[in-house]
Formats: sequence, C-alpha cells, structure tokens
Amino acid sequence: MKVVCLGGGPAGLFFAALLKRADPAHHISVLERNRPDDTFGFGVVFSDATEEALAKADPLITEAMGRHAHRWDDIEIHYKGETLVSTGHGFSGLSRRTLLALLHERCREAGVRLCFGRDVRDPEEFRDADLVVAADGAHSVVRERYREHFRPQVDERPNRFVWLGTTRPFPAFTFYFKADAHGLWRVHAYQYEPGASTFIVEATDPTFRSAGLDPADEPATIAFCEQLFAAELAGHRLVSNRSIWRRFPTIRNEVWHHRNVVLVGDAAHTAHFSVGSGTKLAMEDAIALVAALGEHRAVPDALAAYEAARRPLVESLQRAAQVSLQWFEDTERYMELEPIQFAFALLTRSLRVTHQNLKLRDPAFVARVDEWFANRAREAADPDRPSAGTPTAAPLRPGEPAPAPPTSSITRTSGATGTAAAAEAPLPMFTPFRLRGLVLANRVVVSPMCQYSAEDGMPNDWHLVHLGSRAVGGAGMVYAEMTDVSAEARISPWCTGLWNGEQAQAWRRIVDFVHTNSAAKIAMQLGHAGRKASTMRMWEGDNQPLPSGGWPVVSASPLPYFPHSPVPREVTTAEMRTIVADYVRATKLAEEAGFDLLELHMAHGYLLASFLSPLTNRRTDSFGGPLENRLRFPLEVFDAVRAAWPATKPMSVRISAVDWYPDGHGPADAVEVARAFHAHGCDVMDVSAGQTVADQRPVYGRLFQTPFADRIRHEVGMATMAVGNISSYTDVNTILAAGRADLCLLARAHLWDPYWTRHAAYELGRPLPWPGQYATLDRYRPRFT
Ligand SMILES: Cc1cc2nc3c(=O)[nH]c(=O)nc-3n(C[C@H](O)[C@H](O)[C@H](O)COP(=O)(O)OP(=O)(O)OC[C@H]3O[C@@H](n4cnc5c(N)ncnc54)[C@H](O)[C@@H]3O)c2cc1C
Ligand SMILES: Cc1cc2nc3c(=O)[nH]c(=O)nc-3n(C[C@H](O)[C@H](O)[C@H](O)COP(=O)(O)O)c2cc1C
Repeated sequence: MKVVCLGGGPAGLFFAALLKRADPAHHISVLERNRPDDTFGFGVVFSDATEEALAKADPLITEAMGRHAHRWDDIEIHYKGETLVSTGHGFSGLSRRTLLALLHERCREAGVRLCFGRDVRDPEEFRDADLVVAADGAHSVVRERYREHFRPQVDERPNRFVWLGTTRPFPAFTFYFKADAHGLWRVHAYQYEPGASTFIVEATDPTFRSAGLDPADEPATIAFCEQLFAAELAGHRLVSNRSIWRRFPTIRNEVWHHRNVVLVGDAAHTAHFSVGSGTKLAMEDAIALVAALGEHRAVPDALAAYEAARRPLVESLQRAAQVSLQWFEDTERYMELEPIQFAFALLTRSLRVTHQNLKLRDPAFVARVDEWFANRAREAADPDRPSAGTPTAAPLRPGEPAPAPPTSSITRTSGATGTAAAAEAPLPMFTPFRLRGLVLANRVVVSPMCQYSAEDGMPNDWHLVHLGSRAVGGAGMVYAEMTDVSAEARISPWCTGLWNGEQAQAWRRIVDFVHTNSAAKIAMQLGHAGRKASTMRMWEGDNQPLPSGGWPVVSASPLPYFPHSPVPREVTTAEMRTIVADYVRATKLAEEAGFDLLELHMAHGYLLASFLSPLTNRRTDSFGGPLENRLRFPLEVFDAVRAAWPATKPMSVRISAVDWYPDGHGPADAVEVARAFHAHGCDVMDVSAGQTVADQRPVYGRLFQTPFADRIRHEVGMATMAVGNISSYTDVNTILAAGRADLCLLARAHLWDPYWTRHAAYELGRPLPWPGQYATLDRYRPRFT
C-alpha cells in the first residue's frame, strides 16, 4: 500500500512508524514542511495512564520517552499568597523536540521515508496514494480542502494565551493566579527536562487588551511577562519560540474520513491545553488507525472502523476539556473562594477528577477539604446564628472583601500530615444545610417527579409510599411532585393538586409520615402547566394533548407547544389576578399540610416559565418584551406567595437556566432571573434547564446542568440546587465541596433506588442509623454478587 502522511507531528510520525512495523511492505512517506529540528512550543505532558497505553503499542518509544521525561506527582496552586500542594497526580513532561526526534528515529529504523521542508498546498496531488493521512495539525490544509465532506466546526475560545518557556525548573505542575491592574493572569507551568519548563500565560481578552498586548511581538510579550512574573520566575528568564498570543481553537469534525483520506490528531479534534491531552489523543489516534487497517482489508472500511472506535473516546475527552477551558475562562468568578475550596474546584474542574479519585491520590488533601467544608456547614447550620438563606461554605457576596490572606504560606497536606480529626470529618453530602428556620440533615434531595397517579388532584397511597420510602431512604429532603394550583392548571387529569382542604389533608398524611418516620424534610412544588396542560401521562405520550376530555389551556402567548397541540389563550390581566389568588390559596394549604419548604415551578415551559422565556412570551403589554417585563408576572406570583408563606420557612424557585434554543434564554439570562428572585426573598434557586420548546437542542451529559447552578451561585451570591444527570455519590461530594451548588437533587437515581442516600452512606463507610423496625440491619452485610 502507498501511504502518504501529511504532517510530521506526533500523530503522523507515530502512525507511520507503527504501520511500517506492522507491515514493512507498505511504502510510507511523511511530508513535513518544517526542518527536522524546528519545532514550535516547548514541552508536552503525559499522564501515567497515557504512557501505559502507548507502551502497549510501542514499548521502545515509551522507554525512550521515559528516559528523557521529567516526572512529578505534585500540583502546586499559588493563590492569594498561599501555595496549596496536592500530590499523587503522576505526570511526566517531555520536550516536544525530543519527542519528535525519538519518533523520527523510530520511523527511520522502520524504513519510513521522511521528507522535511515539504509544504503541501493541495492534497489532490496524492490521488494515486492508497491512503492519505491528514496529520497536519489544527490548521490542516487537507481538512480545509475537503471541508464539505468533513464539515469542521472551529470554536475559537475567547481567552488569550501564549506558550513560553523558562529555565526555571518548577518542582511540580504549577498554577499561578496573579492579579494586576489589568486583571487576572493564569499561568500553567511545568518542567519537561532539566532546567527547562513550559510557561503558558493565559488571560481574558479584556485583561489582555488592557495590558496593551494587542498587538505584542515576542520581545514585548517577554518583557511584559518577565516583569509581571518576576517573583515567580525567581531570577530566571523567559524564552520564546514563535510565541504569539492566540485563542484556543476547539476543533470538531462531523466526519473524519472521506474516500481514502483520514483525519488524525489536531486536524480531527483538539482538546484544550489545560487537560494536557492533545499529544496523547494524536498518538492514540495513530494506534487506533493502525489497528483498524490491520483488521479491515478495504481502506474505507478501516477508516470507518477507526472513526467508530475513536470518536466516543475523543468526544468524551473534548467534553472534559470544554469544562476545563471554561473554568479558566471564568476563573475571575472563583476568586472569592477560600484557598482550599479554590484548589479543590481547580483540581476537579474537568469532572474527570472527583472527590473520590482525588481521595485515592491524596487522602490528606481531601480530608482537609472535608474538614473545612464540615466546619463551615456546621457554623452556618447553627440554630443560634442569625441567617436567612445564605449559602454555607459559600463564596463571599460580590463586593464583600475577602479575608486577608497570609502573605506567604505553603500548605502541604500531602503525605502523612493529615490530622486524625480531618479524617473523621463528615463527607460534604452528609453535612447539614440551613435555609431560614429549616435545617436539612444532609445535602441529598429527591427531585420533584410527577407520578400521574392522582384522581381529582388527590394524592393517595401511591404518593405516600413513593415519598415515604424515599424519605426513609435517607435523603435530607424529598420534593412532592409538581402540584397544581387549580384543576385547569394540571398537566394531566392524574396530577396532584392543592386547591381544596381535602387535598391539604391528604398531603398532611404524607407530610406527617415523613416527619414521624424519617429525618427528612418535605417540600411542596407548586405549578401551573400553562400551554403544557391537558396532556397525557408521561409514559403514554409525553406532552401529547389528551385525545378526549381535555380542557382549554392558557399561556403567556398563543403559541402551541407542538404544532398539533391546542393553541393556548393569552392570559389576560384579569386571569392573572385569579392565578395569583390560586397560588396564594395553594400556599396556605401547603402550610396547613405542614410542608417545610415551598417551591414555585418556573421551569420546563409551564405557565410561569412561559412568561420568562422570550421564545414563548411574545406579549406586547407590560408583561412582554425585555426581561424586566417578562419577570413581572412571575415575580408578582412570587411576592404574593412569599407574603402568604411563613417567614421562618424557606422558598425556592425552579427555573430553566437555558432553553437550548437560538434566541432563547442562555446562562447569562439565568443569572439575571435568579438575581431578581433573590432580591425578592427567594432562598435557593433550583437550577434545571430546557423543555421550553419542543424542538430544543439540549447538550446532555453527566452533570450537564450543574455549571448553570455554579454560575448563579457565584455571580448572584445565593444558594443553589444542582440537578440533572447527577447519579454517583462522588459527583455529589465533588459538586458540594467545589462550591458548585449547596444541594444536589437526584430524580431518576431515586426512582431506581429509593435508598440511594443510605447506600451511599454505607458504601462510604458511614452508615446511617436504621429506624427501629429495621434495626436488625445494623449487623447485616448486603451482598449482591
Ligand atoms: C499552548 C499549548 C500547549 C500544549 N500542551 C500540550 C501538552 O502539555 N500535552 C499534550 O499532549 N499536548 C499539548 N498541546 C497540544 C499538542 O501540541 C497537539 O495536540 C499535538 O501536537 C497534536 O499533534 P498532531 O500531530 O496532530 O499535530 P501537530 O503537532 O500540530 O503536527 C502537525 C504537523 O504538520 C505540519 N504541517 C502542517 N501543515 C502542513 C503542510 N501543509 N505541509 C506539510 N506539513 C504540514 C506541521 O508543521 C506540524 O509539524 C498543546 C498545545 C498548545 C497550543
Ligand atoms: C418521572 C419524572 C417526573 C418528573 N416530574 C417533575 C416534576 O413534577 N417537577 C419538576 O420540576 N421536574 C420533574 N421532573 C424532572 C426531574 O425533577 C429532574 O429535574 C430531571 O429528571 C433531571 O434529573 P435526573 O437526571 O436526576 O433524573 C421529572 C422527572 C422524571 C424522571
């Protein structure tokens, strides 16, 4: 087979060397526009896990890499005068120049033809080749030549960064967060060979511009950075190598192969440098492509198999890289965190490292985080402390001065220095949380879930068992399902309601059961389905209009949910008065029933949500138009309910932070919505997303809505609840300890396992006490296999 590899970076060279070794009969050329010892950049990072994977494909190259690499275990975080150290991370740095030289050697040994100084302008010149491998990096000419087939998307990120080098040998992977008059500068630095380190400087675009670096040539960049980081460089100089300020391009391609042409490495996909995985991905692509060519006789089949094997892994890493790069874009938001929480948030930013696996790497560090978190939670939950819904373990409110940091201190928690007391601190999820007069025993909450099992709005034995078993299951609080303020407000004829005393008494039975038989609190979620009323049960046709027996529906504007849904009537101001009165009546009934917290459902496209979103609110009166107007009716309802609900009891509001639809709400709008409710006395935001319009385009994934709760919590300075694809206890502990939310709501995980919290407590070695009826379980060891 005649194989042409365009680009002699890690992807192209490793691929060529592996394929030639696998089948020496192939004629393989690597065409590289640079000379052999030209290379941009300085060092690259590999984790221990990556090295193991590479070693399986080519033990000699990994041995050689190991001989030249600089290894470290620690991550040092320099933040507000403190240096926090976490250990156990297992990384190596290697000079890119050395890596390429080693790969050149492997290619030559195998018999690959290396052509340097060969700048390819048009890959069509290789039409006679059996296989063309586009390993020509982020600015791939091959990808551009066939862009209508590959359909690339290049998302150029807003932050500016420059890749520099220095002679300062950093002892650990080092992060600096340093503010000057222009803003906050982030540095990612690591040693890759004796006396040589990579030093990447990153800032927001406004900070970069304010510093007068646009434009800045290499000498100006060096002069600026050497002055700014004089203390950090400790007398060492910075060096440049085509070090120009850039924006990181996240590259994705809808298709990775076309005819006999295939994309590998950065040409196919990029992952932000903060996850240190670009070279790893490039080399893993090479391994997968060689394997696919070995397994399939026809090149197009092999290319399809390669893409099928690699795409899920690459996309998963790109998701991690995306949250990581966003953390660095938003670092200003976290600058009010206390150092230990800041460090934990940084280390767990990509969702790859969690409370649990960080604990395996560095138990003393996590023990210190837990102890800090538990102390803050205990203080905030103290009933003698005057408090009304301020987040525990929370950032300071915007504008509030941070406590003065020590001028310089090194906090090394690794090794055997963790204290016995720290090891015994409760895990974040098992710390108390206070909102007004309500104290929850732990931070796990059963999210509201409609059961479509009521008649005439009356909750019954199903609801008693459903909520009762989850309360006994150990959650700190259980939410009743969306319960409607009038018969017409129901999603379906089978939804629960609170519009009469009989319903309040039926709810009272459930509330009393929860209070008598568990430590859980119980919340009521009040709603009005708006244009999504009069529909079928979820499992019979989600949001589908009732085939018969339906009723007229109302909404902010006369827009049907599906094209075939009934057109809602635009709510009149007179009807608004009635709806407010319905909410107030339901609130009084909820108090009569003994609920501990009241939530207003303003998410998922229901009536109040339909006022908030510009997609569903097209009104031309004072309730439509700008956000201030769209908030008017939801706030009126909130104010009336707040006035009717006891001052000692907290209230929450559930919103759809984003609509997942063009011109709909985005994360910044959610901040403004939350700010408005907070100003009106909302104690905690329940941050959900979507379901506003039927053709939404959500981006699902693990913890996919948590970033919205995180942003509201920090930008508004209020307590938040995270919900959406949270299912593991380590994710709950991570969200809480990093300060991304104050409570975690789990819905489907609780359907699957009503005893989710008990199971978590047991697995984590801190079992919860069983009720007397089940006390025999104190000596029982469950076994499932
Ligand atoms: C600031 C920064 C820091 C990084 N840090 C790390 C890190 O720590 N760890 C890590 O793993 N990765 C890191 N990366 C990413 C890493 O450099 C890339 O992901 C990796 O090099 C991709 O390998 P590749 O072979 O696909 O592309 P490249 O390494 O870009 O190689 C492409 C090659 O193709 C050549 N070429 C391009 N066009 C043509 C043409 N028309 N004709 C001939 N030749 C051509 C180029 O000269 C180049 O040699 C970092 C990237 C940046 C920007
Ligand atoms: C069966 C079911 C019923 C639901 N009913 C409600 C509801 O009544 N009110 C509400 O706000 N969300 C409702 N939701 C959404 C959940 O509260 C939660 O936000 C969503 O399922 C995402 O969480 P999860 O990934 O933990 O399941 C429901 C979800 C499910 C699965």
